Amino acid sequence: MSFLRLDDIHKSFGEQVVLAGISLAVEEAQTLVLLGPSGSGKTTLLRILAGFERPERGRVEIDGRDVGGLKPARRNFGMVFQHYALFPHLTVAQNIGFGLAARGTKGPELDSRVGEMLELVELAGFEARAIHEISGGQQQRVALARALAPAPRVLLLDEPLSNLDPGLRERTRRQLRSVLRRVGITAIWVTHEQQEAFDVGDRIALLDDGRVQQLGTAEDLYARPVSPFVADFVGHSSWLRGRGDGTGRVVLAPGVSWEVSCDGDPPAGEVDILLRPEDARLVDPAAGALVGTVRQTRFVGHTTYVEVELAGGALVLVTSVHVPARETKVGVEPLGGRPSPRAFERGSGDR
Ligand SMILES: Nc1ncnc2c1ncn2[C@@H]1O[C@H](COP(=O)(O)OP(=O)(O)OP(=O)(O)O)[C@@H](O)[C@H]1O
Ligand SMILES: [Mg+2]
Repeated sequence: MSFLRLDDIHKSFGEQVVLAGISLAVEEAQTLVLLGPSGSGKTTLLRILAGFERPERGRVEIDGRDVGGLKPARRNFGMVFQHYALFPHLTVAQNIGFGLAARGTKGPELDSRVGEMLELVELAGFEARAIHEISGGQQQRVALARALAPAPRVLLLDEPLSNLDPGLRERTRRQLRSVLRRVGITAIWVTHEQQEAFDVGDRIALLDDGRVQQLGTAEDLYARPVSPFVADFVGHSSWLRGRGDGTGRVVLAPGVSWEVSCDGDPPAGEVDILLRPEDARLVDPAAGALVGTVRQTRFVGHTTYVEVELAGGALVLVTSVHVPARETKVGVEPLGGRPSPRAFERGSGDR
């Protein structure tokens, strides 16, 4: 049975429905990422978990026990927020020990636990520093140590890296992730960045429109998105139109048909076709593939993205080692045996 369960959570603010039936489960010692656009209710859901907000309907269970009636302090959840919310007038060590001291831990026991936490987040030697004497990344590690010191049952992290510069963000992300794994704590990590979600989440719940649009591993969401919304949110996607013939092939243009993956039965009728850039290649325009004109090329180090405008006006992004000149004619075809092209019933998203 899952360690943490949310069942059919509903929450509105006035007329606005923010959460319209959220059910999720997290296994012990795993990290679940809540990913979603701004305003999708990620923070609201964390606040409901922590007990700061009451849902109109639904249950929160830990280890089989309904905690809905418990006050925040009794739930024993640790929290790390976007803004470090460290106490500026206390030292690093005093910040880390704050929650413990508030519960009556003192003397050698307090010192020893704070020392352990300092080791854990690799800040041994920084205990006497004032908060303004350490960097933003270090401050976020202090916030993590402070949240973990009282040994919470679940750790909630709300955009813990968004105050950091991009370079520091990636390094701090790896440090936080490694601490979570070492401690073996059950965590819920909120972000609106796909890369961060993929990097830290054992599983990811993509939230939009008050609902979980898809729950799965990073690979599930990327390779087997259940809707165009999910596909667009987690990676580069090009969209083409075609007509399914009911056998798993889709006709895109006279004489051009591709084998596609999909959920459920092979599509028959109008479909939208997702193509990931790394699942396609450029070929000779005379090869019987879709034909288009190279509009842009973008070298990104490990590959080059080539943007091709097809005859009908659709833009397709393809990764390529060979870089064609702009305005040349090229053919585009799928590599085959890859997650995309993937077909979606026409009208299953807002395209
Ligand atoms: N206390 C409140 N009173 C009224 N509306 C609220 C309240 N808290 C949140 N909302 C609204 O609920 C919606 C969801 O907010 P929430 O903060 O949960 O989104 P989020 O997914 O965390 O967004 P972000 O990525 O910007 O942090 C927003 O439209 C917000 O304005
Ligand atoms: Mg938020």
